[in-house]
Amino acid sequence: MSSSDQLPRVYVARSIPPHGMARLRERCHVIAPEGDEAPTRQEFLDGARGMDALFVFPNVKVDKELLDAAGPQLKVIATYSVGLDHIDINLCKERGVQVGYTPGVLTTATAETGISLLMATARRMGECIQAVKDGSWGTKWERSMWLAGSEIAGSVIGIVGLGRIGLAIAKRLASFEVSKIVYTGRNPRPESADPIGAEYVTFNDLLGQSDFVVIACSVNESNKGLFNAEAFKKMKKSSILINISRGAVIDQDALYEALKSGEIGAAGLDVTTPEPLPPTDPLLALPNCIVTPHVASCTVTTRNNMCDLMADNIFAGLEGRPLKTPAY
Ligand code: NDP
Ligand code: DGY
Repeated sequence: MSSSDQLPRVYVARSIPPHGMARLRERCHVIAPEGDEAPTRQEFLDGARGMDALFVFPNVKVDKELLDAAGPQLKVIATYSVGLDHIDINLCKERGVQVGYTPGVLTTATAETGISLLMATARRMGECIQAVKDGSWGTKWERSMWLAGSEIAGSVIGIVGLGRIGLAIAKRLASFEVSKIVYTGRNPRPESADPIGAEYVTFNDLLGQSDFVVIACSVNESNKGLFNAEAFKKMKKSSILINISRGAVIDQDALYEALKSGEIGAAGLDVTTPEPLPPTDPLLALPNCIVTPHVASCTVTTRNNMCDLMADNIFAGLEGRPLKTPAY
């Protein structure tokens, strides 16, 4: 039996599900900060020093500074995400550091959150809950259009990014008797789109036609700030924008103006810039904006599955085998 000093060393940036932690501890010497608080950048850099593997979260920038701090013995990084925008993949490749991520296992949970957010925003659930809690319900219910929302049935759904999650959202929304589903991306994806009758359109077409616009793309240089003042002008005044991708796809100042001025109807965001979004952020004062704290993949089942997959990737990377879900 190897003593714990002979085992490969893994730095785990935050508390993870107990089953995953137990699996890691069976085969690795795990270094994890106490408690639930995420380590500061400096603590992370210090913690990474001399490690063979790193277990990171989407808020940890994996760049030259971190790779230098970890040192040349680093073999594998596993990220608790399918999004890779926080990782300098080219540099990892150059340094021979394998990167594992979590595609697929979180698709259902994330799609379900996308749908929840869309329904909650369409039916003004934030305002509804608030009205009951603060007593403003009063006699307002007798006003026939008080808190009147938008219907999904009969609407045009626009999906930005028909990847795994975009497709899972589109499939679920198809059962709501929508009139049409359109999508956009860098390339048409007939193999995904044809079975659900989704039509490939340009970004501008999608903005002009859609009653609901769902952002489900990965983030890269082609789409940072894609939703800017110009884009909001092209959308219907009643349209509802949902974002489960990354905050960077939206110019948030422009979104605030569009929501306040009535350029668009409402927004439901699971991702923002920055995260956490400060409670004083002006978006949070708008009645037509619902924000959730980047929890789209957060179900017990999915978080356990993500953790299992990460452990598998870490073991493979440490043993020099191909990763189960390599990012490159
Ligand atoms: P996929 O790789 O399966 O899909 C990504 C899609 O984004 C592809 O269809 C790609 O299409 C599209 N895309 C890339 N660039 C553009 C662009 N400029 N315009 C339109 N579409 C674009 O990934 P997943 O579906 O598994 O995940 C998608 C993203 O969702 C993740 O990268 C992550 O950022 C986010 N996510 C957020 C979660 C949360 O908790 N809120 C949870 C899980 C994921 P094409 O190549 O044709 O352009
Ligand atoms: C992802 O997977 O990219 C999410 O943002 C975290 O679950």
